[in-house]
Amino acid sequence: MKNTETSDFKYIGNILLNWYKKNARDLPFRQTKDPYKIWICEIVFQQTRINQGLNHYNNFIKRFPDVKTLAEAAEDEVLLHWKGLGYYSRAINIHKAAKQIMADYHGSFPSEYGEILKLKGVGKYTAAAVSSICFNGKMPAVDGNFYRVLSRFFADGFDISNSKAFSYFSELAALILPEKVGDFNQAMMDLGSEICKPKNPLCGECPLHENCLAFSLQKMSSFPVKTKKVKAENLQLTYYFVHRNGQFLIQQRKDDFIWKKLFEFLPEISVELEPFVRNAKTINHKLTHKNLSIEIFDVDVTSASVWKALIGTKKYIISDFENFHEKSFPKPLENYIQNSLKD
Ligand code: ADE
Repeated sequence: MKNTETSDFKYIGNILLNWYKKNARDLPFRQTKDPYKIWICEIVFQQTRINQGLNHYNNFIKRFPDVKTLAEAAEDEVLLHWKGLGYYSRAINIHKAAKQIMADYHGSFPSEYGEILKLKGVGKYTAAAVSSICFNGKMPAVDGNFYRVLSRFFADGFDISNSKAFSYFSELAALILPEKVGDFNQAMMDLGSEICKPKNPLCGECPLHENCLAFSLQKMSSFPVKTKKVKAENLQLTYYFVHRNGQFLIQQRKDDFIWKKLFEFLPEISVELEPFVRNAKTINHKLTHKNLSIEIFDVDVTSASVWKALIGTKKYIISDFENFHEKSFPKPLENYIQNSLKD
């Protein structure tokens, strides 16, 4: 960063606001200032691309149009409506936060940044976005878009994998923040995803390119600087798909490790089932920081008495091919069920 202490960079914020007035994307959640809807949209679209998540967002809002409806719903139903968006802990937290708003704020969404931040699953980015868009709050919603736009504009080599990156870029953002922070935050989101893209940025269309230092040096791809790469961990999972006559056995995951509260096949089987084990299939699946190798054994229980005894233990939940859609499975397991339907 050069000379930022003495220079006035507010003009940047105003250029962005003018650009946003003409170029704001027409998105359904831009027609409202309802903090509930903005909150849900921020949670959904922080990790999911707009065109990938828009239908899910609309369906979610249709089924849970307000805090009360969401708070009163069963957790399984909330998870079910999150299907396709992944990162299910977001749905679990949203549900908990809705209950928190009912209990602590009489069902009315808190308006202060500091109060919004207390909600389960809400971080600084989301609290800043909701308070600025809905309540005229003044905090910049600093995320990867801010890091990219600001580090390029100032050709600033601050390492974004540094734990101080958030406060560093928040201070930088404060230098350019105009009055209308809500629109400014959304302008940064649009600019970051449509123009100042990680790869092949469209600098010719950028309202800031005349003063952008990375552009003048033609070093757009050198910013932001990121030194530490989180290495993905390799993990091996084993499942048994135990089934008979269109029914199969599942259980609900409890641990926090991955896929909390989603349904899964059985991770192990008792010796009586071993004679029914048929072929195995290996599925590779990537999560954000994990490379999963999932081995699934097909167990076709051809003996009625063994099946009856198994169900009698009441250890497992029985699902069936016809309505497995009513439960939320991790994506690779859902695909596996779908494929076995074709067999
Ligand atoms: N991504 C996350 N929140 C957004 C918003 N409010 N507008 C555009 N893109 C977003």
